[in-house]
Amino acid sequence: MKQRIMVVCFISSLCLFSACSIFKPYQGALPPMTDADALWQYITLTNPYTEWNQFDDTNGMKNGSPPHGARIQIYPNKIASRSVYQAEEGSIIVMENYDEDGTTLLTIDLMQKRPNYAPSAGNWFWASYEANGTVIEEGKIKRCVECHVSMAFGDYTFIHQW
Ligand code: HEC
Repeated sequence: MKQRIMVVCFISSLCLFSACSIFKPYQGALPPMTDADALWQYITLTNPYTEWNQFDDTNGMKNGSPPHGARIQIYPNKIASRSVYQAEEGSIIVMENYDEDGTTLLTIDLMQKRPNYAPSAGNWFWASYEANGTVIEEGKIKRCVECHVSMAFGDYTFIHQW
């Protein structure tokens, strides 16, 4: 009996410990929060997005819809992946847009969660790049927000469910 109580206590403390670590603030270095060029350097050289783990619910190549690619791949950084109810500050979601065959990379879209950046629009910074990293657009892009706001209840993201 005593042994069983000890086992239960041990398991409960393990659960409590892991629950606490989920909600612990992110300890690592934050990505740059300046402009789209700096972010491109970060996601291709400093911390290449192609090495990031994809969300379990959006793993692999998926069908996309206009204005995005016919085929898409989504890569969240570690901060976005560990976020539970909504994206934590520093979260980056990179999306590759491919042609219908899924062979030619056309453009790359990105959203980054920043502190007090755009409080009425989920505090997301938006950027769109050519496949070679040339910036097409960046910042508080109105048309990105106007469409993504329909998913405001899911922190402005369509694919992954927070
Ligand atoms: C007309 C609506 C619309 C507009 C405009 C739009 N998006 Fe999206 N976005 C979507 C949809 C729908 C998805 C889900 C994938 C798909 O169906 O292509 C998506 C997915 C994404 C994702 C992956 C994360 C997620 O939400 O699931 C990123 C990153 C993204 N969009 C960035 C942008 C950027 C940057 C812009 C502006 C330059 C933009 N989007 C404009 C509708 C839109």
